[in-house]
Amino acid sequence: MKKIRKVRPRTVKKVRSKKGVRRVTTKRPARKKMVKKAAPVSIVRAQEHFRGILETQLARVTRLKKAQDWIDYAKLKPIVIGILGGDGIGPYITGEAQRVLEHLLEDEVAKGKVEFRAIEGMTIERRAEVNKAIPDDVLVEIKKCHVTLKGPTTTPKKGDPWPNIESANVAVRKELDLFANVRPVRVPKLGIDWMFFRENTEDVYALGPFGIEVTPDIAIDFKLTTKPGSQRIIKLAFEYARKNKQSRVTAVTKANVVKTTDGLFLKTFYEIAKQYPGIEADDWFIDIMTAKLVDEKRRREFKVMVLPNLYGDILTDEAAEFQGGVGTAGSANIGKRYAMFEAIHGSAPRMVKEGRAQYADPSSVIRAGSMLLNHIGYVELGSRLGMALDICGQYEKKLVMTGRSTGAAGRDFCDYILATIADPNLAARWQEYQLA
Ligand code: IPM
Ligand code: MG
Repeated sequence: MKKIRKVRPRTVKKVRSKKGVRRVTTKRPARKKMVKKAAPVSIVRAQEHFRGILETQLARVTRLKKAQDWIDYAKLKPIVIGILGGDGIGPYITGEAQRVLEHLLEDEVAKGKVEFRAIEGMTIERRAEVNKAIPDDVLVEIKKCHVTLKGPTTTPKKGDPWPNIESANVAVRKELDLFANVRPVRVPKLGIDWMFFRENTEDVYALGPFGIEVTPDIAIDFKLTTKPGSQRIIKLAFEYARKNKQSRVTAVTKANVVKTTDGLFLKTFYEIAKQYPGIEADDWFIDIMTAKLVDEKRRREFKVMVLPNLYGDILTDEAAEFQGGVGTAGSANIGKRYAMFEAIHGSAPRMVKEGRAQYADPSSVIRAGSMLLNHIGYVELGSRLGMALDICGQYEKKLVMTGRSTGAAGRDFCDYILATIADPNLAARWQEYQLA
């Protein structure tokens, strides 16, 4: 194409003098020097900030690409189980879960194969005092354990009375590289049998504390997706489907709008799917997926779902509601070296303030305990505990928890679970409910 040169125009001035009006053409104005204006300080600051993020993430991706082997619990003696009470209702419900685990693993502890270790200090008061998501000494103790059972911990938000520190859950997940958040939801009488694989270390969570207020009028957060980060969670979901004879894996994104990051997640999903020709792979957008979980006919068709962090957070709360609420669903945070098991709900400080903490439902953190048993190789014990939880919380419901003195206390509910586990007919009792 021909380049069109802009000609700097001459200007014509009319000059009046005794001789009349004359037209005078002025000289062309001097060529303006093309001096680039310096960017405002706010932009330079934001650019520097972004550079820092990119450097950290490039180094992280290099680390992720170096495959690490999965820890083998069978070879460990002892397997160290850390117990973190958390805050709010955390110490109450985690105490009950610990009671169940110690009972089930009594022989293993006696043999020296398993050791329980209480870890103090993961409370909002202490975290606020040191102004850190995880106090340093607590992190050192966590890293000395192979797996941890963690009670809920308060996550401050802007405007709360606490300093706006990062969520302890999110910090532990990132610190121990617990990339898979595995959340099962089963309600046989509704035909629901879902397993969610929520990516746990990326997305908007990864850089949650690293957003930037460019000016008082502009705030920007960052959403991060990496290829190796997506590959490992998607692979885990397909492997689970293969081992558990599930015929379908569904990815959930918003790749039609969030094109770059969700786009990469989805592209990676279909690349991995090719390695599993016997398993059907499909994808849904998060909005319609949220709707389809309440569609009685369609929802039973979903089995294994894999999704980025935030969509996974939201969808699993919705899913848990079918099972009796977030108080009933457990959550496993799995990495190759460490694993942490927790309730999926928050610390409910209001219950403590109103003197109702003893009525908090321990089911979610006990469910997390059954996932812990399963994960470290005590599959039979984990499954017994899972069946007892189903019977007590969903089927038989001899005791009902309401979160108040109108219902059972957490301690009584835990005794009910222990009595149910002890029943030699437990499996048959559970099986009957599956057919009902
Ligand atoms: C969860 C919780 C956490 C999350 C909060 C407490 C930070 O909602 O485990 O789902 O968003 O991951
Ligand atoms: Mg959540």
